[in-house]
Amino acid sequence: MFKRILVGMDTSEAAGRAFDVALDLAEKYGAEMRALFAVALPEYGATVGEVEEVRNEGRKIIAPVLEQAMAKARRKNVPCEARVYPGHPAETLINYAAQEQCDLVVVGRRGSSPAKRFLLGSVSTRVTQYAPCHVLVVK
Ligand SMILES: Nc1ncnc2c1ncn2[C@@H]1O[C@H](COP(=O)(O)OP(=O)(O)O)[C@@H](O)[C@H]1O
Ligand SMILES: [Mg+2]
Repeated sequence: MFKRILVGMDTSEAAGRAFDVALDLAEKYGAEMRALFAVALPEYGATVGEVEEVRNEGRKIIAPVLEQAMAKARRKNVPCEARVYPGHPAETLINYAAQEQCDLVVVGRRGSSPAKRFLLGSVSTRVTQYAPCHVLVVK
């Protein structure tokens, strides 16, 4: 059923829970995993150097989260690769899922943004609507 599971990672607890659910499914289905953190770029056109700078900043922010997640996957013998890409989180997850033929995208209900007035976060909403495969929103 699932061969490659993509998890949207940010620094939120919800994303951590999403990873745990994805890992459990991956173990049961014998699937491999990709944990992807997208680093949002500034709205204005960024130069190649600026993109790389933003990406490096992003790597620093997410490194401890991804390291912990990868260690969990190793303990369960589930192959898991971490990715940090520049771009809009939802768009990056959707494009990655399409290009890398992922069967399932797992995201948390909310992310790390302080705006809690909507039921679903903007990333989870968009991924649910536009991903090319199944989507699981973890509460
Ligand atoms: N930058 C990101 N890169 C990858 N996945 C993300 C990113 N931001 C959010 N996500 C995923 O989307 C889920 C919901 O976050 P989001 O929709 O951004 O909510 P909020 O609006 O509260 O920030 C997170 O739990 C995470 O799984
Ligand atoms: Mg967010």
